[in-house]
Amino acid sequence: MERLSMLGPSVVSYDDSGGPTPRGLLLDSVRGACAMVVSLTERIDAEVLDAAGPSLRVVANVAVGTDNIDLAAAHARGVIVTNTPDVLTEATADLTMGLLLAVQRRIVEADAFVRSQEPWAWAPDFFVGEALAGSTLGIVGYGRIGRATARRARAFGMRILASPGRGAYGAKDVNVVELPELLRRSDVVSLHCPLNERTRHLIGARELESMKRSAALVNTARGAIVDESALVRALETGAIRAAGLDVFEHEPDPHPGLLKLANVVLTPHVGSADAATRRAMAEMAVANVVAVLRGGDPLSPVGLR
Ligand code: DGY
Repeated sequence: MERLSMLGPSVVSYDDSGGPTPRGLLLDSVRGACAMVVSLTERIDAEVLDAAGPSLRVVANVAVGTDNIDLAAAHARGVIVTNTPDVLTEATADLTMGLLLAVQRRIVEADAFVRSQEPWAWAPDFFVGEALAGSTLGIVGYGRIGRATARRARAFGMRILASPGRGAYGAKDVNVVELPELLRRSDVVSLHCPLNERTRHLIGARELESMKRSAALVNTARGAIVDESALVRALETGAIRAAGLDVFEHEPDPHPGLLKLANVVLTPHVGSADAATRRAMAEMAVANVVAVLRGGDPLSPVGLR
């Protein structure tokens, strides 16, 4: 059971040990707070901001993504929003590579097979997957995590394509192509853009149909960037070969169709979940709060997008 605890006279901090804070508890707990430390399971909208009242000065998200926060509503009330960039870049890129390897080399499927104790013998066509070396990785969102993923993938001999966007402008180390071309040419497409109104369902039926039938989709960004029903159809019909998903459109529930598919590897939104990273995220969120309450500049403010 989640707990909200008062850390000071008016600072509310979120303890994420037990899942999302029930809405009523959240609304009650924030009254009179001057700062909130929250995680992505909390929807921070006008109702919550108003429940906190005029004393609220900062909402510190323990995540780099801020799609759980109504930035315009915070901005309108003069409330600073902060996030935790940088400290989780390497961890998230690590998990991305883990999912990429798992789907290309069918590691989870192979593990389940061995556990099933079915008789087997080495054979040239047994559990054959796809090579990484010489294949093309398309990165949608060439920001910090996209670039960290590209660095890893290059070490595996992959060629990199990136979609246009803030991180890709002027990048000399990557071939930047428009999304339709990236989808057409990539053997693996990995998503690293933020979720907002422009990227919601960026990958739908048409985009999936345009990918190679042998391609895989990896998503460690936000579930709703992909139309999950369309993805299930694409995987069922063989429009694409496989998917590795750490995030889901309606968390915590993946589309039931995904659960039945052997060509899908699923993890429960654990991109940043290594001990050092989680500690660094918590420390950064608290440092943001302290900076604002002391009247200074936050380390990582989030502007209106
Ligand atoms: C983020 O930071 O946005 C991740 O999804 C959670 O670590």
